[in-house]
Amino acid sequence: MANNITFTMIKPDAVKAGNIGNILAMINNAGFKIVAMKFTKLSAEKAGEFYEVHKERPFYGELVEFMSSGPIVAAVLQKDNAVEDFRKLIGATNPAEAAEGTIRALYASSIGENAVHGADSNENAKREASFHFAGTEMFS
Ligand code: CMP
Repeated sequence: MANNITFTMIKPDAVKAGNIGNILAMINNAGFKIVAMKFTKLSAEKAGEFYEVHKERPFYGELVEFMSSGPIVAAVLQKDNAVEDFRKLIGATNPAEAAEGTIRALYASSIGENAVHGADSNENAKREASFHFAGTEMFS
């Protein structure tokens, strides 16, 4: 796996709203292959570790609390140019700025509760994939 994978989470707000199926359909229709997936819940400790890079940001506490507030779907997706193409599919972090037809424009309600996460670089995609999945749980 070189630069053809990205990592995503369907966040607690989208799970709670019943949008897992709609979001997975958009991911499949955009040409991504699911190579790993789990329905799970992050502890506050695990959420804090995952988002450690944002530790100094004012929204860190809120982010950790939200991401550990309910179940999520974590997945590794494969496609040429996966990181960039997935970020186009999900739209801007703030749904108010997300392009029409993107996952966040359709399903996110605020910058904090923004329906999905997408890795922002190839390096982070690999780090985040191995944070959630053992090598034996990924099927490329
Ligand atoms: P995500 O792509 O998961 O990466 C970091 C997350 O931090 C981001 O999506 C947002 O959900 C959250 N975030 C970024 N900026 C803010 C903010 N200003 N207020 C609250 N949450 C934020």
